[in-house]
Amino acid sequence: TWSTGNIIEEQVAKIRDQVGDARVICALSGGVDSSVAAALVHKAVGDQLTCFFIDHGLLRQDERHQVESDYASTMGIKVVTIDESERFLSALAGTTDPETKRKAIGREFIRSFEIAQRKLIEEAADDGEDIKFLVQGTLYPDVVESGGGEGAANIKSHHNVGGLPDDMTFELVEPLRTLFKDEVRAIGRELGVPEKIVARQPFPGPGLGIRIIGEVTRERLEILRAADAIAREELTKAGLDEEIWQCPVVLLADVHSVGVQGDGRTYGHPIVLRPVSSEDAMTADWTRMPYNVLAKISNRITNEVSEVNRVVLDVTSKPPGTIEWE
Ligand code: XMP
Repeated sequence: TWSTGNIIEEQVAKIRDQVGDARVICALSGGVDSSVAAALVHKAVGDQLTCFFIDHGLLRQDERHQVESDYASTMGIKVVTIDESERFLSALAGTTDPETKRKAIGREFIRSFEIAQRKLIEEAADDGEDIKFLVQGTLYPDVVESGGGEGAANIKSHHNVGGLPDDMTFELVEPLRTLFKDEVRAIGRELGVPEKIVARQPFPGPGLGIRIIGEVTRERLEILRAADAIAREELTKAGLDEEIWQCPVVLLADVHSVGVQGDGRTYGHPIVLRPVSSEDAMTADWTRMPYNVLAKISNRITNEVSEVNRVVLDVTSKPPGTIEWE
């Protein structure tokens, strides 16, 4: 029968068996999955593990700072940040197709971890032959949606599964690959991962890159970041963080509509709010959230983000819609 204790013991043994005395790199995003994967691997092989956090330039407001301080203060695991935003933004330039974006992001993540690997080798001043293991917090739904499950169709390539480049040389360590999010949260709690991290809402590895419909540019990222920060602040203030599984905020960057702001005509972009309720992200329903909270978010975004003159609510369940727009 299923128990968190059993799974932890079983995975720890499996990890030790897989990596032996080798050094291991973990791709940490600050989210639940990679944090719990890191905690499991840390329990299994201790200091053989080094965690890297890649700033891909597609993060939300304050996210990098928050992840750095959360881990330093609570996890007891050393995290090295690498700023690779230039690389990701150049890789995305000119790209509008969702799967092409996802594959570019997946590829650049692996290139970034190869840089991390070289850093470790330089630091240790050895040949680094044993540094070939990469920990990822891949969950069962990621595998299924990327077309890896039995008889599954490829719905979208998750950056850490279907988005990986063919020439990758890392051997993957994925202790959560058969689990769902609620199971991962239970394991995280048992391992002592702080509630602040365990309870965090899901945020996709490709970040804001798949929430800008159209080409990703620095300017567009700034607009989305500002709108997203307002929505998150108001949802938290209204006490909705638990009821809502996650609320993607999406910028329709190639769409314009006419508005009137201040004393003039505007021709700005719409922002989409996508609050969803879900058990495991495999299916979802749009959250019937209070109108007054929606009104507050809409007012604030259109007042504070000058490029946005319209806020719309996505009232589609999954299926037929997916949670993210790309
Ligand atoms: P969809 O959009 O497929 O999303 O309904 C299901 C859940 O997965 C998250 N998601 C991702 N997470 N890498 C991730 O780490 C990805 O490439 C990715 N794509 C979607 C999404 O936020 C939702 O929680």
